[in-house]
Amino acid sequence: MYRWEITRAALVQRVLAIVRSDSYDHAHATADNLLSAGITSLEISLTTPFALEAVTTLIREVGDDAVIGAGTVLDGASARMAVDAGARFLVSPSLDPEVIRTGHRYGLPVFPGVATPTEAVHAMELGADALKLFPASAYGPRWVSDVRAALPQAAVVPTGGVTLAEAPEWVAAGAVACGMGSALSEGDRDTVGKRAAELLARLADVAPPLDPP
Ligand code: 3PG
Repeated sequence: MYRWEITRAALVQRVLAIVRSDSYDHAHATADNLLSAGITSLEISLTTPFALEAVTTLIREVGDDAVIGAGTVLDGASARMAVDAGARFLVSPSLDPEVIRTGHRYGLPVFPGVATPTEAVHAMELGADALKLFPASAYGPRWVSDVRAALPQAAVVPTGGVTLAEAPEWVAAGAVACGMGSALSEGDRDTVGKRAAELLARLADVAPPLDPP
């Protein structure tokens, strides 16, 4: 897939699930719950032990049914390792040009972290494929509508403390998608399944899913 197609596939449901765990087994089980619940886009955070092994394993397991990326990619070296592990996209809480350059060199979309209009413009100049507003809970949906009034070209993915109840508000305010970790993935398989179904329905009420690539 081309970079723009992966971007679209990663954001098509308007939710990008985040798996951040303190063990490989828990991360794998969490990802499995999310994928079984119908979530088609998720990142494994590199703070997770053996995160890149989890990325490789999940990609082998899901094939083309979902896009699996790497999150918390802080530098060029980590970006290159994520590329080698097979990650389909890279996400970062911060803005490091080397992460964007490395991802793009290998055809991967990159969603760097921003928290100000200046950082958003800088990230777009560097070619960022979408912007992770982090930590979203410190700002609120007004950030998206106010910033996009001036920068309508900004594809914003608020992440960090986004709740099930607030996700539709973020999308209604103009976010292209929400990044969601704990609010979506905690609990057993049944709980995650119900929560994901509810979330996808609520998001679809606010904005249609993006056209699939
Ligand atoms: C991230 O890993 O990017 C965020 O910290 C996820 O935050 P959440 O668990 O509050 O959604």
